[in-house]
This record gives sequence, structure tokens and C-alpha cells, in this order.
Amino acid sequence: MSVEIPAGLTDLLKGYTAEVLVQRPPDLLEFAVQYFSSLKEQRGAESSARNASRSRVKRAVAFDEDTVPSDSNEEEDDKEDYFPDDFTFKRPSTSKSSRRVSVCAEPYNPDDDEDDVLQPKVIYPKTDQQRSRLQEACKDILLFKTLDAEQFSEILDAMFEVHVKAQEHIIEQGDDGDNFYVIDRGVYDIEVKQDGVNCCVGKYHNKGCFGELALMYRTPRAATIIASQPGALWALDRATFHRLIVKNNAKKRKTYEAFIESLPLLECLELSERMKIVDVLGVKTFHDGEQIIKQGDEADCFYIVESGEVKIMIKSKIKAGQSSPRETEEVEIARATRGQYFGELALVTNNPRAASVYAVGETKCLVIDVQAFERLLGPCIEIMKRNITSYKEQLVMLFGSSEDLKH
Ligand code: CMP
Ligand code: CMP
Repeated sequence: MSVEIPAGLTDLLKGYTAEVLVQRPPDLLEFAVQYFSSLKEQRGAESSARNASRSRVKRAVAFDEDTVPSDSNEEEDDKEDYFPDDFTFKRPSTSKSSRRVSVCAEPYNPDDDEDDVLQPKVIYPKTDQQRSRLQEACKDILLFKTLDAEQFSEILDAMFEVHVKAQEHIIEQGDDGDNFYVIDRGVYDIEVKQDGVNCCVGKYHNKGCFGELALMYRTPRAATIIASQPGALWALDRATFHRLIVKNNAKKRKTYEAFIESLPLLECLELSERMKIVDVLGVKTFHDGEQIIKQGDEADCFYIVESGEVKIMIKSKIKAGQSSPRETEEVEIARATRGQYFGELALVTNNPRAASVYAVGETKCLVIDVQAFERLLGPCIEIMKRNITSYKEQLVMLFGSSEDLKH
């Protein structure tokens, strides 16, 4: 007796089996439900995208957190296939209960990464309003600063919005990494377990990003992140993070390794610690005269000059009866060139910025955010403190007293 196998059945089962082998889910039945629902939804999304493109009606697509990603080649294929082009099953998991817990932290080499092979592009449709909020949230994210325009645009396409409630644990220390997060709004506490007790080591206020470490190094989550009020985040799945950010980091290491090695400030760090700095740094270019730091502002970054020059200017309080400089006038107190750093004082002392800093000619700086500064540059702080003592001496010479600094 010959049994006719329905068209598409073999491919359907093969696709499911391949996903099971890659993702190794604990519950095959539950995984099958998610897999086939996801496939069905994506087929639906593709056919409406094709209809929309046919009628050439450009309309904003309302975005729902649970929307399944559509692929980017949707206009090419018109037939109703079992698999939309490049279909990959992805569960944008933001639920803590569905996360696995890491057992080991193997050293990570992005070149060996099989996850990235033939990784298709992920696109979450967004309204114009969402896209502009996302762009605003991402414009100062240092990890995105060394990407080219095409890579950055792919990142924006792949991000999806997550709304969080007060007291929600977005990340739990010790879990496996699933997503990287950029803050849209909200305040988030950073807690790290010290001697078995959770200690708050910092906060994010309405900006910044977190969750990159577990994805970069395949280590368990290094901290717990808790929303202290209702907020919104943009999440990027692990596979896209790998394909774009981790691969880019391999290039960044090649570009900056020698420069970072040459910095006396970082001599006290191990090579692996210096490379971790390269992984998280961003590169910013400033044009002649542009203000990089404003005296009195709250500090969020540390800078190392890669090329060009900066001048450090300070406003002093002038006591009655004294002549120039006038109270509002800024006085140049120092310059920094390639290999020198600035912006450490406010981070070390927890004070507002003590001086303003301006680019002299086109100037390129490596930028490290406050969380990475505190996490990675701890061993260098003694060296920085020695320089801070010399700032005071210099100010006493210039103004008679270092207390005369005006924030
Ligand atoms: P990850 O380990 O993936 O998840 C927790 C995140 O908290 C971590 O990445 C960092 O992005 C962020 N974080 C902020 N401050 C710290 C800190 N002091 N130690 C560890 N992680 C931190
Ligand atoms: P921060 O206060 O964070 O921002 C301004 C930076 O200017 C400061 O860190 C130092 O890195 C740098 N700076 C250099 N010389 C001085 C000085 N004499 N007084 C204060 N800041 C100085």
C-alpha cells in the first residue's frame, strides 16, 4: 500500500527537528506549540506585508511585544510556502521564569561561533513614533558607536519594545543571557551579590544600556537589574547581538589593541581586562571647538584621547576687589593629547564635572561609560588619584586656592 506524503510535511518536520537540535528545549511538546504558532504567525505577517506592498499603501504597523519577527526578503517570494524565506524560530524571551541558568563560563572566540552562521536578519515592525523613540534611546549607546550605518540600522530593525512594571526583575544574576537592553525610560537598580547579600551598586536613570556581558563572554548574568518604577526598554536578541556587536568587537580589538597596550594608566591591568575595556568602549569624534564636557554637569563617561587635542577650561569664583579674570570667564588650565585621559575626576569623587573640556581641531576620543569605568578601572584609580592631587596643586598656583572651583 502506498501512502501519499502531503506536500510540505517533510520540510515542516525537518525544520522543527533542526530547531530542537539547536535549542534543546526541556519540553518538546511546549516547544512544538511555540514553534508552529510562530511559523504560522510569520506566514500571516508575510502575506499581509506582500499585500501591503502590492497596494503600495505605506502605513505604520502597530507593534506588539509578542509580534513574531518578519524576515527582510518578504517582497521577493509570492508563493504560500510552508517556510517564509529565512524563517528562524526565535522566542523573544523576557520572562524570567523561562530562562536557563548557566553552568559554566567558557572563554569566547567570536570566530568559532556557530550561532551566527547564516543568521537571517530580524525585523520588528515599528510605528514612526516608536522608531524615533528608539533612535533617541540608541544615539548615545557606546556599543553602537563603532558600527557602520548599515549595521546600526539592522540593530534598530531587530529591537523590540518591552514594558516593565515597578519591582520587575529584568535580569537575574546567575541566569543565562537572552537579550541586551537599551533604556527607553525608567529607573533601574543594579544589584550585585556580595557575600550572599544583594548590594545596590548603581542605578540607570532613563538612559543607558545593560545586559551585554553575558552575551559577549557567555558568562552568567553578572548583576540583577530591577525596575524601580514602571518603564520601557528596547531589547535585542542574543543572536543578533552576536552577529553584529560581538563580531564587531573582534575587529575593535585588532584596531585598538596596540593603542590600549601603550597606555601607562592601564599598565596595572591584565591583558584580558584591557581587552574587556576595548569591548565596551565607544569612539566619538568632536569637531574644533565642540564642548565635550561641561563644568557642573553630572558625569556619565570617561575619555581617552585617540587623536587630536582637548583643552581643559575652568571658571573660578572671583573674590570682590580682584581684577581679571571675570567670574564668567573660563581660564585654560591644561591640554590633553593622544594617550592622555580626562573626565575621571567626577567619576572618582562623585562630584559634578570640575572643568569644561573642548576639542582643539578634529579630535577622536575613546569613551567608557560610568558602569564600565567602575567595573573595569578599579585597579587604576590609585594612579588617577595621584594626578588629582597634582590638579589641586596646579589650581592653588593659578587661583590661590583649589576651593575656588565653581561648578
Ligand atoms: P550582564 O552580566 O549580561 O547582566 C547584568 C548586567 O548589569 C551586566 O551585563 C552589565 O550590563 C550590568 N552591570 C552594571 N553594573 C555592573 C556591575 N558593577 N557588575 C556587573 N554588571 C553590571
Ligand atoms: P571631570 O571633573 O570629570 O571633568 C573635567 C575634567 O578635566 C576632570 O575630570 C579632569 O579629568 C580634567 N582636569 C584636568 N586638570 C584639571 C584641574 N586642574 N582641575 C580639574 N580638572 C582637571
